Amino acid sequence: MKETSSLGLNKTGIKTSPLLSKQMVTGMEEFRKMPLDESITANEFRQAYISESGEAAKVPAPATAKGAISSGMQMLKGNDPRILIDKLGERIAFERTGVRLYDALITKCELLDTEETVSRLRTFREEEAHHFEIVRDVMEKLGGDSTAMTPCANTAGVASMGLLQVISDPRTTVAQCVQAILIAELADNDAWDLLIQLADEAGLAEQVKQFQIAKDNEDTHLEFMREWLKELTLRKDTEAEQGRH
Ligand SMILES: [Fe+2]
Ligand SMILES: [Fe+2]
Repeated sequence: MKETSSLGLNKTGIKTSPLLSKQMVTGMEEFRKMPLDESITANEFRQAYISESGEAAKVPAPATAKGAISSGMQMLKGNDPRILIDKLGERIAFERTGVRLYDALITKCELLDTEETVSRLRTFREEEAHHFEIVRDVMEKLGGDSTAMTPCANTAGVASMGLLQVISDPRTTVAQCVQAILIAELADNDAWDLLIQLADEAGLAEQVKQFQIAKDNEDTHLEFMREWLKELTLRKDTEAEQGRH
């Protein structure tokens, strides 16, 4: 495992196999000659699915066991608390994934990086875990189920899957992993801004203060990852080969 990629054999490009690539192009031409059903285009086919499909998930209504709207919900300003519940669910899912992303990066960096860098990552990991706890508590206080997968939690989870795959892959470099974490931190940062505005509109003044502290942490994470990626990418190859020891 290295901090940045090395030069070597890579057969994925068309130029490394002129014979097979020629066969591939010929095969494609053969495929074009096959009779196709032209009554429906690929786009129309996909659009038919889009129009006919239902929702991937619904926002669970925060209610008491007897079905009444929870008292926490009744306190909220505004007419429709669904978006707030959905976005709280999204943050719960994303911060939980953030902990896993940092765990995987720490495991990798323990082999290669300085104790100072690893200790910084451990701090970020603890902050992500704390953010998860803050949002979980708010969801519970409003009467929601913090374990429920809301629609936005579902899509955030799906979107993060690739990031987790990059970082968990034992072959990826630290630079590639930092790029993946940077994507997560960029999304995280904007999402906290939006959640703060939503909570503010709902009149959750105390929670806005807590969320603002989390957002300040996220600003630090983002800045650190931006600088680290720059450092790993812009320095000379010889330095990259030596690692950060
Ligand atoms: Fe986060
Ligand atoms: Fe973060």
